[in-house]
Amino acid sequence: MSSNIQWFPGHMKKTLGLIKQNLNLVDCVVEILDARLPQSSKNPLVNEIIKDKATVICLNKSDLADDKVTLAWKEFYKKQGKSVVLCDAQNGKNIKELINVINREVDKSFQGKKRTNRRGRIMIVGIPNVGKSTLINRLVGKKACQTGNKPGVTKGKQWLRISKDLELLDTPGVLWHKFDDEDIATNLAITGAIKDEILQIDELALKLIEILQENYLENFSKRYSVDLDGLTPLEAMEAIAKKRGFLASGGFVDYDRCANMLLDEFRKGIITKVGLELPPE
Ligand code: G4P
Repeated sequence: MSSNIQWFPGHMKKTLGLIKQNLNLVDCVVEILDARLPQSSKNPLVNEIIKDKATVICLNKSDLADDKVTLAWKEFYKKQGKSVVLCDAQNGKNIKELINVINREVDKSFQGKKRTNRRGRIMIVGIPNVGKSTLINRLVGKKACQTGNKPGVTKGKQWLRISKDLELLDTPGVLWHKFDDEDIATNLAITGAIKDEILQIDELALKLIEILQENYLENFSKRYSVDLDGLTPLEAMEAIAKKRGFLASGGFVDYDRCANMLLDEFRKGIITKVGLELPPE
């Protein structure tokens, strides 16, 4: 579910208020981040909102992420004392482990006592397109969540049963991206988290080429059967376009077509698994 919501201070304040209210009702928060860009996909205020509420970080879309980099992120969060699970909500990978880790966190609320009076309660938070609805459907085991990106949470609350002693607020807390940093905006746009184009599509593709040449040259060259070493991003784009026969009338390179193809294949994980950012030292 993509988002075209324009966030304004009024929306943000209202959303924060609603999320804070809902936080009072739950024992644990599951914060979803995109495993390819955990920092860029983290809302700037989320820690402030969650405060010391038990939290599980779900690094989702790990099927698209560079395993080595994702593990470095996992270690980074673990060192901060956080519970972290790598997931692929689309294919249902590690969902059982996620539920186990959530249960461990929820148990803390119950101070080791059995959940006899009520079920443990959780809610999911994350920025648009990170996989909240997909994860909810996985956790609940059916098509439970139809609407992803409504700001805040709707009125009448519904609790979806995950197991006999665990339930989930049906509507996730939808947070907003960081807007202020150009690298973050680029990362989000490259992965398709921001659908509204904040950069020209060809500019975005050139940026992607630069990143892939720098960090994933072998897989990148292999995908298009072109040696992309030592080429400028523009030369690389032209080489790929020629190889694919993306030529416009007059024999000129069709840059737009090539840019769209590259971004599409990258987002689907066809070019390479990727880690767009490393954890801070
Ligand atoms: P949201 O509620 O946080 O906004 O995200 P949502 O679940 O709608 O997921 C956004 C997109 O990411 C969807 O793709 C979804 O299928 C995909 N997705 C979610 N989790 C994973 C994952 O772990 N791995 C991969 N590879 N993809 C994931 P879409 O193309 O926008 O929609 P659709 O065509 O799948 O319906």
